[in-house]
Amino acid sequence: MRLTHLTPGFSLLPSLASALHLLSPQTCSIPALIPRAFQSTSDPSDGFFTSSPISTTAGEAVSFTPPPPFVAAVFYTSSPPSWTHEPFCLESIEAENGFCVYTNARFASGRGISLIGVPGQVGDALLAGGWRRGGEEGAQPGEEMSAWRDMEGPKGRGVVATASIPGATLLQRLGPVVGVQDPILQAVARDDRQTLLNVAVSRLPAKSQEVFWSQVGDGVEGRVETNSFLARLGRSVYWWQVVVPESARFNHDCRPNAAFAFSPDELMLEVSTLVPVKPGEEITVSYLAPYLNSTARRAQLAEQWSFACTCAACTSSARDTLNSDLRLAQIEKMIAELTAPAEGRPPDPMKAQKLVKLHERERLWGAAGLARLLVAIEYERLGDMEKARLWAGKAEVGLGVWVGREHEFMVKIREVLGKKE
Ligand SMILES: *[C@@H]1O[C@H](CO)[C@@H](O)[C@H](O)[C@H]1NC(C)=O
Repeated sequence: MRLTHLTPGFSLLPSLASALHLLSPQTCSIPALIPRAFQSTSDPSDGFFTSSPISTTAGEAVSFTPPPPFVAAVFYTSSPPSWTHEPFCLESIEAENGFCVYTNARFASGRGISLIGVPGQVGDALLAGGWRRGGEEGAQPGEEMSAWRDMEGPKGRGVVATASIPGATLLQRLGPVVGVQDPILQAVARDDRQTLLNVAVSRLPAKSQEVFWSQVGDGVEGRVETNSFLARLGRSVYWWQVVVPESARFNHDCRPNAAFAFSPDELMLEVSTLVPVKPGEEITVSYLAPYLNSTARRAQLAEQWSFACTCAACTSSARDTLNSDLRLAQIEKMIAELTAPAEGRPPDPMKAQKLVKLHERERLWGAAGLARLLVAIEYERLGDMEKARLWAGKAEVGLGVWVGREHEFMVKIREVLGKKE
């Protein structure tokens, strides 16, 4: 899932474009780091720390990793306690910032989490409901239902349904074990990258280390590269490379029957079905943006995950593939038109309904929810609130599965549903 945005990168409404602009990934260049022995400061700046030194014994069930020589020599207590280990930092001589590893080994009932970030820029990631509640994780919904199991198949390991599963069923809900502020991994030298990641992983509880290492990939870096996705965390304005090791058990399909949605506030990745799944059917998700054409899909899968695109949409006849590519290009064009600034553009619900049909034809069940929302918005612009609510209702369930309940699209749906004439 490397560097894949789980949610569409475009803004729905012109009024939201400016807000999104503020949230665009930061692309500041960060000079390569040179570890400096015994740096004397760490990160008191996230508002969670006081500067009183504490002992390094973090409490029961937390194994303490002896710090290499360049670890921060100052320890901080935190209130509320955010970290079970003192932040481990590499500080640059050239750059003003260093990079630190922050670990809370008790997070999510002992699953643990390590965040690698720039001091002073991590606190906002913790302004999440899930963090305040300690990342509570209940029983795994899918396992409770025992409606699916791991399998060995032609594509290697995967997940198969063992019973009929209705659409929009939550299958898995898990928090990340590692999050790295983007673009730190691209910005630091290889040795420093490995040091930061090794510290981050080795400070996790043993079971989480085990699931981390059970992922495919070459070394600690390769595993993060292959299995992470980009997401927001809490109120952070930065993108984070997030690793939820168990999510990798779901194989890719360009036309999947399930979807990942990451909740920045809950700090949870949810996997849910998009459509009903029959017993024996493989449960798949897409690692790619929905509207990539066949050429782009093949290229991206080969480059990032080193596998050939073998899904039906990639292996159908040349004629079907061409038609599919044409539909995808048309979908993108229509979305651009329907989300362009509204001034001087008459409402066109029929065009948006055609967009829904194109999605259904392409079997893009997640993105079809977005098209339905666009129908609702066109009816809203027309002043026909009854039809607007009808279409917002049709969009709600599927779109929630695809983008997560907190996404701006869902906010818009709730607004339309709640609006009086
Ligand atoms: C596929 O998409 C790429 C990038 O958008 C574009 O350059 C290319 O022309 C498209 N190819 C086909 C066959 O549609």
